[in-house]
Amino acid sequence: MSTHKPLVLSGMQPTNTLHLGNYLGALKNWVRMQEEMPCLFCVVDMHAITADAGYGKPEELARATREVAAAYIAGGVDVSRTPIFNQGQVPEHAELSWIFNCVARLGWMDRMTQFKEKSGKHKERSSVGLYTYPVLMAADILVYKATHVPVGEDQKQHLELARDIAGKFNNDYNAPDFFPQPEPVITGTGTRVMSLRDGTKKMSKSDESDASRINLTDTAEAIADKIRRAKTDPHPLPGSKDELKERPEAENLLNIYAALADQDRDAVIAEFAGQQFSGFKNKLADLTVAKLEPMAKEMRRLLADPAEIDRILKAGAHKARAIATPIIDDVKKKVGFIA
Ligand code: TYM
Repeated sequence: MSTHKPLVLSGMQPTNTLHLGNYLGALKNWVRMQEEMPCLFCVVDMHAITADAGYGKPEELARATREVAAAYIAGGVDVSRTPIFNQGQVPEHAELSWIFNCVARLGWMDRMTQFKEKSGKHKERSSVGLYTYPVLMAADILVYKATHVPVGEDQKQHLELARDIAGKFNNDYNAPDFFPQPEPVITGTGTRVMSLRDGTKKMSKSDESDASRINLTDTAEAIADKIRRAKTDPHPLPGSKDELKERPEAENLLNIYAALADQDRDAVIAEFAGQQFSGFKNKLADLTVAKLEPMAKEMRRLLADPAEIDRILKAGAHKARAIATPIIDDVKKKVGFIA
């Protein structure tokens, strides 16, 4: 039986702008979990410099970091009880990450599919940081001994690695149950939002086509336009979930609707069964605008005062460090570093 107190940790990268997938796959669940257990949410600026999108662009990184922090707050994270902070202000993440680099095995890292996708054909030109990215992610979680990690489906393999690292450390240092086995929390119909241009591809910040995703900062007109132009097939909407097989675009739009409306997917299928996409898309556009527009407005308000965001991040980092410091001190003692 684990003795660890429930604690939630999750994070997002400040690269490009956040999109509907980040909201439905992660942020929406974070806000719900805040009611259930203590939470910590970080903006992973150290992860952002592993790839070209964040490396060598200091102003852009700082801007995107504040924008992600603003999205957390506008999306419903209550900073009066939940610390938000940027990873770069909490050096304990990097310290534990180094130790974990020595725990993780090359064979484990070589299995990471996201590295393969992100490095593509140019593996030898990728940064070493991109390769060890999931090790830093394990440190983000375990430096607080967090037990629950709400994420989208694409992070599942990274969470399995974090569990393996925790287990091996506990075993190698003869410290059973020192680190918890963090649980991925992947719930709802928004855990894998797909591109609006191709229902077999994930909605992603790095897709060249802006029409493939709905950004959290898009205007109401842009949102409605992207949804109306979203790829579909020539058939009416299906009458049952079995009929969704081989219809990835229809499935994606119905999943988005269900996630945004907080409705069961079967109920949404039943509501629109046999209808044409045009009418459904109008309803989906209205729903998306109703959910995202107030958030975008609040983000703009918060971003007008960057000093206040910086203050919130600093206060959050201070609270996060108070949790991480005794844990990293304990880890170093276990490893044999003289204090
Ligand atoms: P990132 O920044 O790529 O994405 C942030 C969160 O959004 C989710 N997500 C999606 N969910 C549904 N559909 C999509 N199309 C979609 N795209 C992204 C991601 O699953 C994620 O939950 N490695 C992480 C950041 C990270 C982290 C951590 C997360 C660093 N350290 C510690 C949890 C705990 C990442 O790159 O997420």
